Amino acid sequence: MKSFMTVVRSSIFSKWLMAISGLAWVGFLVGHLAANLLIFVGPDALNAYGADLRALGHGTAIWGARLGLLVFFVLHVTTGIRLARLNRSAAGQKYAKSEPRKSTIASRSMLLSGLVILTYLVYHLAHFTWGIAHSEYYNGTATLPDGRVVHDVYSMLVASFSQPAISALYIVGMILIGLHLNHAIASAAQTMGVSHPRYVALIRKGAVALSLAVALGFMTVPLAVLTGLVR
Ligand code: HEM
Repeated sequence: MKSFMTVVRSSIFSKWLMAISGLAWVGFLVGHLAANLLIFVGPDALNAYGADLRALGHGTAIWGARLGLLVFFVLHVTTGIRLARLNRSAAGQKYAKSEPRKSTIASRSMLLSGLVILTYLVYHLAHFTWGIAHSEYYNGTATLPDGRVVHDVYSMLVASFSQPAISALYIVGMILIGLHLNHAIASAAQTMGVSHPRYVALIRKGAVALSLAVALGFMTVPLAVLTGLVR
């Protein structure tokens, strides 16, 4: 029987880690997108959502979610780098007994797009969560119909995305996330053993639809502000 550490070090274990941590982030992205689309309902809807989220479970729920996301993110990035290294060394072994996994353009660009998304995410957190990047748009409060005075997320988004350079950065980020997701979803299904051609084809189509919906959905926010639809 294989020892626990042999299993943990195997590339199939790493691939499962990539798939599970990646899918957890896909779930977060879909929820985050739905929340962002509240901007089209109006300032009160978006600001109340932000305040409710922070207050959930007396403020503990958001920290639990943040911790979970962070753990999944760190696992995803470190395992991704490890797998890319393993692939590279397997490609160099001409006579390996097991078939080496091919290092394709897609798999190499996954590492690159993943690392650019990491940079995007740090910028995004500095922008909207920590208020360090573009701090001039971070402050401000709004009063909800029920009298609560909350952080004015709506005005922060409008002020930020009125700057074409900031919107352009976000739009480029969304294109990369869409491309990364498209390849990742199909790859996760393969790791999880989906091999029947009919399901593989179905999942490929689903991956294209989901990644387009996520990328275009997020893009509507800066585009709506830039075009004056949301102000
Ligand atoms: C146009 C696209 C996006 C907009 C307008 C947007 C908006 C926001 C806002 C306003 C916040 C701060 C919420 C608050 O503190 O009240 C936030 C937080 C966050 N966003 Fe985004 N987001 C976008 C895309 C993304 C993408 C693509 C990702 C993932 C790759 C992402 C990941 C996060 C994370 C992890 C947080 C921190 C959550 C927390 O700790 O509270 N966002 N986003």
